[in-house]
Amino acid sequence: MPKEEAAQLAKKVQSILSNYQHDKGMLVSILQDVQTEFHYLPKETLVEVSQNLDVPLSRVYSVATFFKALSLTPRGRHLINVCLGTACHVRGAVKILERIERDLGIKSGETTKDLGFTLGTVNCVGACALGPIVIVDGEYHGQMKTDKVKALFESYT
Ligand code: FES
Repeated sequence: MPKEEAAQLAKKVQSILSNYQHDKGMLVSILQDVQTEFHYLPKETLVEVSQNLDVPLSRVYSVATFFKALSLTPRGRHLINVCLGTACHVRGAVKILERIERDLGIKSGETTKDLGFTLGTVNCVGACALGPIVIVDGEYHGQMKTDKVKALFESYT
């Protein structure tokens, strides 16, 4: 990482740590804020957090990998989840997932190169009557159809 970029990154992490008075008991919240800032947890931020809180790097890593909301790899600005629960599955969720994968050029679990979207799948989100469901940034889009997928993404770009 270039020096200037590293300095910027350290400054942002410092500011987050200050918000929590460098309290190591707030490690999860601190990592969540770092994740919000960078859309993922760059390795350098974990080192910075570890050194400043005096928490072993291995501990920081184990927290970072334990919580699903935290990610060590870059995530897109928008998170798309396709429900593959039974009710959505029987209503064509797999076809919708395949269409999204084709349109975005990524597989489930991946992020587009421009960091626009990260694609994932979930099991039943408790809104089966609306299936098949695609969730974008927590917003439910029910009765999804393959030919509605493109317009959906365009509304997020
Ligand atoms: S199976 Fe998709 S919401 Fe229940």
